[in-house]
Amino acid sequence: MKILVTAGPTREYLDPVRFLSNRSSGKMGYAIAGEAQRRGHTVHLISGPVSLVAPAHVACSHICSARDMLDAVMAHLAWADVLVMCAAVADWRPRRVASQKLKKTDMQAELALERTADILEAVKCKRRSNQLIIGFAAETHDILKYAKKKLVHKGLDLIVANDISRKDAGFGVDTNAVTLLDKKGGQWELPLQSKNNAARSILDWVTRYFDQTSQLR
Ligand code: CTP
Repeated sequence: MKILVTAGPTREYLDPVRFLSNRSSGKMGYAIAGEAQRRGHTVHLISGPVSLVAPAHVACSHICSARDMLDAVMAHLAWADVLVMCAAVADWRPRRVASQKLKKTDMQAELALERTADILEAVKCKRRSNQLIIGFAAETHDILKYAKKKLVHKGLDLIVANDISRKDAGFGVDTNAVTLLDKKGGQWELPLQSKNNAARSILDWVTRYFDQTSQLR
């Protein structure tokens, strides 16, 4: 299969030295890209700024902002059988971007922001029905409630709900505790495990999904 994976944060600059971003390390997305490649799939990784090296034999587009990530996902969407949208995309960016460093005396205490595009919402309008679209939900509370909402609103086949309030799961660490929720109501709570093992479980689900749909044809 051809698998498109996004990973890491985006950066939304307000001047050449300052930006808005988040704590995503990219480890979960890189683990999925590496495991998919090891299983013989063709993988394209779209990565925000992280301090990781792309897995061997994985094509990688390095991007910076949410707008760059939208463009890169849209450019590769038709190619992909599966999109795994693991990136922590910024929801807001500064309304104005200064071309020169802002002096502190010129800055206001409030920063004017505007929304970035929701990439999965854009994907929803362009996807083919035989493509598998997987999203992540990074939550600190009411995890399953919010994840189910995102599953429906973003038109996903599967969402990986991620408890980012735990110190041993989510952003930055090597382990993760996720629950997989599919659009048919299936729910699988996975134990705390390495991100590599969580990647294996997600890709096992993908394999099962395609096995079942090919049996139905
Ligand atoms: N996502 C996206 N485009 C955005 C923001 C998020 O495609 N501008 C994707 C993420 O890659 C993830 C899913 O949407 O697969 C959920 O992201 P998350 O940050 O959990 O939720 P948001 O949609 O940003 O909503 P909120 O911040 O209110 O939880």
